[in-house]
Parts: sequence; structure tokens; C-alpha cells
Amino acid sequence: MRNIPTNSPGKAELPLDLTGPHVTQGAASAHRLYQALCEMIVAGLVKPGEPLPPSRALARQTGFRRNAVVTAYERLIADGFAQATVGSGTFVADRIPARGSEARKPKVEVDAPRQGAFALGCTHIDERALQRFRGFVGRRMRAFGDQHLHYGDPRGSHELRVAIADHLLSARGLRCDPEQIMLTSGTLHALRIVMSAILRPNDQVWCEDPGYPAALKTIAHCGYRAVSVPVDEHGLRVAKGRAAAPSARAAYVTPSHQFPLGVQMSMPRRLELLDWARDAGAFVLEDDYDSEFRYDGAPLMSLAGIDRLRRVIYMGTFAKTLFPGLRIGYCAVPEQLMGQVAAARAALDRFPATLMEGAVADMLNSGAFAQNLKRVRKLYREARDALATTLKEASDGRLSVPVPSQGLHLVARFDPSVELAVASRAKQAAGAEGWLLADTYSRARPLPGFVLGFSGHQIPQLVTATERLAKESLAALRATARRR
Ligand SMILES: Cc1ncc(COP(=O)(O)O)c(C=O)c1O
Repeated sequence: MRNIPTNSPGKAELPLDLTGPHVTQGAASAHRLYQALCEMIVAGLVKPGEPLPPSRALARQTGFRRNAVVTAYERLIADGFAQATVGSGTFVADRIPARGSEARKPKVEVDAPRQGAFALGCTHIDERALQRFRGFVGRRMRAFGDQHLHYGDPRGSHELRVAIADHLLSARGLRCDPEQIMLTSGTLHALRIVMSAILRPNDQVWCEDPGYPAALKTIAHCGYRAVSVPVDEHGLRVAKGRAAAPSARAAYVTPSHQFPLGVQMSMPRRLELLDWARDAGAFVLEDDYDSEFRYDGAPLMSLAGIDRLRRVIYMGTFAKTLFPGLRIGYCAVPEQLMGQVAAARAALDRFPATLMEGAVADMLNSGAFAQNLKRVRKLYREARDALATTLKEASDGRLSVPVPSQGLHLVARFDPSVELAVASRAKQAAGAEGWLLADTYSRARPLPGFVLGFSGHQIPQLVTATERLAKESLAALRATARRR
């Protein structure tokens, strides 16, 4: 038995709670006793400096072995909750950490992820593709080796980078060396790493207006200044950007399928943007988030492909082509930038998680990735058509719904003369997810309408929710007309 000083017997029993939520049921008795003692001390049920009972007495009170009591006391002493004086016993420490009152505890506010009808970013994976993915993951786990036991390349697995380079060449017309590719945990992560490599605090970044709010948040969060540049039917208005911030250091764009409007940046505009980047010594950050979901014909070559990866940094993601929970995206960067981008990555979070990389490479190399895309593209097209048709019909044509030829969402607009509040009232009354179109604008004059996701949703539920949204839209329009 270890020699822990104890106090003389005869004191009243300790007010110990051995069953509350502060105790890990099933843990060793010494650990449970330690947790209960801590709780009692921190709650102020015994005061600083008061003696604790001898170990034998506490063992009797709790029914635990004396050894467990001694271990719990030793831990209390080691953690500073108690102190021992040889010959006198064990006492509650003179100073113990204060505990704030429950009432004053701040409420934790975290936006809950949205998954209901029209929520953006939802996906579906074909059952056969999932089956193959399971097989690949299992095989990779069985072959678990050294690559997972060491720190890795900041760019991630060479094998997956080779597979991505092949995909980019065949699907996006972008020829690049696997050495120029870096795996990330998604587009926003790629954006953050790349910006930290090429920008300085307070640098200006052109951003499409309307645009992708999450990217704007990342840009602001990293300490750069987003400069809103309006979008027209050709994409970002480069001349407006030149006028507003000629010496911006970067432009963040979605040229293949402008988010949210769906415009494809015209070739003259692409060339104008590249000219500006060359003149200004700036870089274009191309977010190519949904080009694999093209419903009519082949997608246009990526901007990075046109530029041959000189002033454009390309960002892609498996969040749509496979599923968001994978958290794997990638960027392809000009050769001369890779050193600094890799250094920025190493400084941020060292290197990507290695476990899933092999299985994703297997998906790409085996053809399972392409087969999955083919099958889900068909599903998404059906969902798109169901949503567009229902919305047009059920809103009596009051919502204009251009059918996008690409992507996983559509934009439905009221006439520009309609108050913005009509859309927000209708959305709220319908309990719909998705976004208000107005929420994607920064400075440009917002249009009344909705941004509605159709991927990854069951068509019957989507149709029901669409009918409800259309009905509430008509009701909100009528209510506004009555007030006038
Ligand atoms: C415009 C845009 N870019 C990128 C992404 C993907 O982001 P991530 O790869 O970080 O999940 C999305 C997802 O909804 C998007 O809408």
C-alpha cells in the first residue's frame, strides 16, 4: 500500500455523487472516484483547506477498494485539487480552479448543416460505386503500410496526384504535371493555402458579385480584402474590376459555371481576365466546382487549360463528384509557385490525411469514378427537370426558371420589380432550405429570387417542397399587392 497521509477517522461522510454525468460509467473505480471527488471540490461542497477522510473510511463509504481510494487521492494531489501533509492527512487544496455558474455559461452557436429540400451541396453516390469504394478502402486498409506511419509530402499522395492529373487532362483540358498538384481538404482549404502563399495581409482580391458567400468569408477570414466585381451574361466584368482595383493581387472566379447565376464566362472575357492578370502580375483563382456535371455536350476547357497554368491556379473538389464527407479536393498551381504553396501548406496543417487517398486513386483508375458520374449525372438531370418544371407551373410563371445546362443548383427569379422581402417571406413560410438569391450579392443590386439545390434529393420530396415554395411565393406576392 502506498503511503498517502490520511486524516483521523470519525468525520461525516463526503457528499459524493458517483452516478452523475461527470462520471464515466464503466471506467475503473479509481477514475470514477477521482471524477466524483473533483466534481465535489469544484462545486464547493468541501471548502479549500478542509480535510478529506482517511482512505480506509472513504473505501468504507463508497464500497471501493482502499487501493482505488489511494490512487484517486494521488491523482487529486498531482492535479492540484488536494494537498498532502505527512502526519496530518490529505486536504482540499488552498486554491482550486473556479467554476463559472451554469447560468452564465455562454450558449454555443454553430450553424447546423442543412439537408432538407433545396439544400445546396448534397450529393448522391451510386450503390455500385459505393460498393466498389468499400472494396477499395478495405483493400487499402489490409495493405496498411509505412506511408501512414510517417509524415508525408505536403502535396499528398503521388499516386492520387497522378490520377488527378490524368482526369484534369481528359475532362478539363488541363495538362499539368502531378508535381504541380496538391491535395487539400476541399476548395476552401485550397483557397486558403494558395492565398497564404501568394498574398500579403490586406491585399485585394476581385470577387464575383453575386458570388459564392463561403469563398468571400474565407477571403475575409484570412485578412484579405474582397473587391466586389459585377457579373453579366459573359461572366465577371473585367473592365469594372480594373476600374475598382487595378492592382488587386488575385481574382477568385467560377468561369465554367458562375456561382450562383450559372453564366459561362465567354472566351473574350476569359482572355481579358488573363490579360489583366499578366499586366498586374496577379493570379486568377479558378474554382471549377461542378464541371463534371454538364448535361448537354462536353464542358468548355478550364480557364487554367487555356492559360496552360501560368497565371491561373485551378481548384477542384471531390465533394460533388464523390461526396462532401470525403473532404478531399485539390489544386493545380503554376510550376514556379509550387515551392511556396507547399511551404504554406506545411505551415498550416503539414500534409493531407493519407488513409483515403489510395481508395480515391483506385476509384479514378478503375473507371468506378467515371461510372458513378455517369449514373448520378442522369439522376441530377431528372431532379433538375422535375424542379424546374414544377416551379414554373406551380408559380403560374411568376418565377422565371432558366434550366441550367450544368451544375447542381438552379436560380429562380421573380420580376426585378418585386420586393426582395417577397422571396424571404415565401422561403420562410414554405420552410424551404436553399438560399435567397439576394444573400449572394455584396454591392451589386440584388435580384429577388432563390438559389435551389436539386442534387442529392429524392425527386418526390423535391416536387412536394417545390409546390409548397411556389404556393407561398404566390401568397407573398398577393400579400404585397394588397399592401400597396
Ligand atoms: C462555388 C463552390 N465552390 C466550391 C464548393 C466546394 O467546396 P469544398 O470543396 O470546400 O467542399 C462548393 C460547394 O458547394 C461551391 O458551391
